[in-house]
Amino acid sequence: MNAAACALMRARDALTDLRPQPDDITADALAGLSQTPKTLPSKYFYDAEGSRLFEAITREPEYYLTRTELALLEARLPSIAQAIGPGAHVVEYGSGSGRKTELLLDCLRAPVAYTPVEISRTAVLEATARLSQQFPDLEMLPVCADFTQPLSLPESTRPAQRTVMFFPGSTLGNFTDAGALALLRGMRQTMGVGGCALVGIDLDKDPALIEAAYNDAAGVTAAFTLNLLARLNREIGSDFDLDAFRHRAVYVRERLRIETFLVSQRQQTVHVAGQPFDFAEGEPMQVEYSHKYTDASFAALAAKAGLKVTHGWNDAQDWFGLRLLQPA
Ligand code: AVI
Repeated sequence: MNAAACALMRARDALTDLRPQPDDITADALAGLSQTPKTLPSKYFYDAEGSRLFEAITREPEYYLTRTELALLEARLPSIAQAIGPGAHVVEYGSGSGRKTELLLDCLRAPVAYTPVEISRTAVLEATARLSQQFPDLEMLPVCADFTQPLSLPESTRPAQRTVMFFPGSTLGNFTDAGALALLRGMRQTMGVGGCALVGIDLDKDPALIEAAYNDAAGVTAAFTLNLLARLNREIGSDFDLDAFRHRAVYVRERLRIETFLVSQRQQTVHVAGQPFDFAEGEPMQVEYSHKYTDASFAALAAKAGLKVTHGWNDAQDWFGLRLLQPA
């Protein structure tokens, strides 16, 4: 057996499997389509094709978020590692498959364990197997679970000096205000009194720059958004006509967020589980939020969750930030 296969087997042995019941996509779609305005949940963007399209978005010239955060991490890691301190158990929400995780783990002083928390069993096992080859001395404690739910962490063999929650990418911004608050409260509980969280946030800036990032000229973001309808058609038998909806993303500065819609191009009726839903020509259906933050708005959100911002790092243009949070 080769090294990669061995690593995958070890990851399987270490896995804590708290997989939720399969999401009831039909129920969520019916509930969203019954609202005014109609909505569909963005959590269903990420099937295999959606994940591939998101990776493609991160390479588009207009989508500054990923490359700015990566450069910021690279530049500021010594001071981030200093603020976190030695002997950390790093817990990442998401599969940790990216370069950001490697950079962080590489720079921390004597981290004891790494726990990726991810709803996709395949993604969490693959990320764990890959990282375990790169960091053979780090205990891998993968958890397959929905990270929006409270979680008790697997304990590391060597005691950790502190739990560090790593949540990069401004993924927090995709939650509603209530969802983001619940998530931060859950993180506070999981990190414990001596713990901390390193969170990536996209910052408020020139609306034209933000809007361009969500309306790239090559149309990759539009394809990503429309893929939601393709997924629903395939998985729950709905009959959305993908040619009859257009992607539109606008930055609503009063609410500090990108609001993404699929706009009906004509009057039409769509069926989901036998139920008809009428769309007028020009009717927008809301499918994603991407919140942006100011120092004040993020500190206020953290405070509501019982957390305080103890350190912050921004890139030179103040486009993207990393914030270290601790229980208040
Ligand atoms: C994953 N998330 C932080 C992305 C964002 O920027 O909100 C998802 C995305 N949606 C459209 N483009 C990228």
